[in-house]
Amino acid sequence: MKVLAQALSASILALSATAVPAAAQDDDALLKRGEYLMNGPVACGNCHNTRAEDMSFVPGMAFAGGFHIVDKGIDAYAANITQDPDTGIGTWTDEEIITAIREGKTPEGEIIFPPMPVPTYNNMSDDDVQAIVAYLRTIKPVHHEVPESKFEIPQQAMPPAKGNPAPPMSDKVAYGGYIVTALAHCFECHTSPDANGVPDFKNGLGAGGFMIQLAPGMEVVTPNITSDPETGLGNWTDDDIKKAITEGIDPDGVHLSPPMPFPFFANMTPEDLDAVVAYVRTIPPIVNKVERTDFQKKAFQ
Ligand code: HEC
Ligand code: HEC
Repeated sequence: MKVLAQALSASILALSATAVPAAAQDDDALLKRGEYLMNGPVACGNCHNTRAEDMSFVPGMAFAGGFHIVDKGIDAYAANITQDPDTGIGTWTDEEIITAIREGKTPEGEIIFPPMPVPTYNNMSDDDVQAIVAYLRTIKPVHHEVPESKFEIPQQAMPPAKGNPAPPMSDKVAYGGYIVTALAHCFECHTSPDANGVPDFKNGLGAGGFMIQLAPGMEVVTPNITSDPETGLGNWTDDDIKKAITEGIDPDGVHLSPPMPFPFFANMTPEDLDAVVAYVRTIPPIVNKVERTDFQKKAFQ
């Protein structure tokens, strides 16, 4: 008996000796992936970081919320998603956070699309959403009360997410499509609005003309990123597109306005960036000439 017990505990020891570091390694990889996604393609901080009046991010207020989003029927403030238990999401379970991100429902049953790009996040893989939650757990709590959002247009939760894995990186266009349509939410800004001012994904995918008010008197409009040669990106080189996405500079040297998330996209790996460009090239052309607003022309040259 004693020998058996010794053998057993020895094998348990052996098991745990291999199991613990492996799990720790998995956690480490998950956190690394979450950090990459959040500082790169998924860019939650573009809305959730607290911004100063000149739209720059306030130091020490990462994910502390308060960015004011005003649109037709929308008067919203991005939530505090730090780990603060009172004003943030410190008391939420992982499942509750995942449901908020991919389905747009809070534990109290509030709906957060629009303006949060939940239709995009509905396509996010289980691995990636878990990586994002792992990273959110490391965010230092910031006590910051955010005003309540008000909506006069219908909001809509998304169906339960399928959580399908991302396509293999070797399939460049498909993988780029995953980044664009599940993480980087390019289309939620770059799609023409319908009569309610909500992106019309059926008829205006990527065609731009979506108005975003940064603050009263500070209106910006999104350009056409379809492959139309005249009014879209059809005549741009791959490098032109990369420079716009990562540096916020167009081929004429014009500086692009916020909220184009180029400070985040600048952290994308070269492989991910190549995949995004390969996918963007396949967006069916739609003729739609977009004129920058007077504010954009004046403030961002
Ligand atoms: C386009 C802007 C935008 C982006 C990008 C965005 N959000 Fe949000 N999010 C919002 C707004 C606005 C709200 C508040 C909606 C409301 O008050 O009804 C919100 C609410 C939330 C909530 C609910 C918090 C609460 O207390 O009710 C969570 C959680 C959340 N976002 C997480 C995320 C994560 C994680 C990401 C990135 C994967 C993300 N958001 C990307 C705008 C955004
Ligand atoms: C939160 C909104 C938002 C998101 C998300 C977004 N963009 Fe933009 N983008 C803008 C705005 C606003 C401009 C225009 C700025 C200007 O004209 O000053 C812009 C400009 C551009 C331009 C320059 C086009 C031109 O004609 O000048 C390209 C290319 C572009 N975006 C591609 C993308 C891609 C690809 C993604 C996703 C990987 C993306 N954007 C995500 C808001 C967004």
